[in-house]
Amino acid sequence: MIMKKIDISSHINGIQLSSCIMNASGALCTTDQELSNLFDSSSGAVVTKSCTKNPREGNVKPRYFEWNVGSINSMGLPNLGIDFYLNFLEKKKTKKPVFLSLSGLSIEENLFLMKKANFSQKVTAIELNLSCPNLREEVLGNDLYKISTFLESIFEFNKKPLGIKLPPYFKEECIINMSLLLNQYPIFFVTCINSLPNGIFIDTDNEKTVIQPKNGFGGVGGSIIKPFALANVRKFYTYLRKDISIIGCGGIYSGKDIFEYILCGASAVQIGTQLIKEGISIFDRLKKEFTLFLKKKNYSSINSFKGKLKNFQ
Ligand code: SIN
Repeated sequence: MIMKKIDISSHINGIQLSSCIMNASGALCTTDQELSNLFDSSSGAVVTKSCTKNPREGNVKPRYFEWNVGSINSMGLPNLGIDFYLNFLEKKKTKKPVFLSLSGLSIEENLFLMKKANFSQKVTAIELNLSCPNLREEVLGNDLYKISTFLESIFEFNKKPLGIKLPPYFKEECIINMSLLLNQYPIFFVTCINSLPNGIFIDTDNEKTVIQPKNGFGGVGGSIIKPFALANVRKFYTYLRKDISIIGCGGIYSGKDIFEYILCGASAVQIGTQLIKEGISIFDRLKKEFTLFLKKKNYSSINSFKGKLKNFQ
């Protein structure tokens, strides 16, 4: 019997990925050791922790908590500063695509970071995080006007493939308006979604919150948010220009979850909460599970079913 080869490679607007599975920014990708582990793993790309101009300690601890179906965090962008990430990448010999995640605390800081990142040969693409829910500063991803003037400034100099990490949207009109805006610019990809903002998880034994910053309010991730993330991917797939790729993120635990994201229109997926829970070996497990799932479905590549979700009728 001839075994059909199952190919789970993909591309993000032309950036080739040997596997469509990568880490989400924030998940085990802050330090030298964590990044080295990701480079050595079977992930299709490496995404760095969202960085700022200067190193940051982040919010007070405890700032991360997980339970069986979710996680809540208010990390506050702890990171080693852009120079650390650029220097680390400079020394790294790798063919794996690198997505440098940037999350300046102001538009000016983001422009500074974007300019710096543009000088690095080692940065394959920039993932601009406009959706961190854990800062005092307003989330730019909710302000179309500011994003539009910001993008105007960026594309005066930017030569790097650029993607934007978006917050979850709960109204179709928000996704339509954001798509209409992004469709006007040479954006390479969007990442949907960041954690669901302003959640709370309660420790009933002690009758208190489980994280300290912001009185216990934080971004919720994990399987519990998957339906919202899938819905955002599906809607953006409907309204974005077809050459803008979508990276799906939110609640992936199994190969079947990855299948669902691609069916909704994602070209690749990112793993956050479950990577933190399970560690770096998750990439091998997910690759195996996803390949097996495709084999059972008789698909040999992700292009055979990408975006082809059918409506119930
Ligand atoms: C954080 O560091 O607070 C999380 C980053 C994010 O959700 O964008």
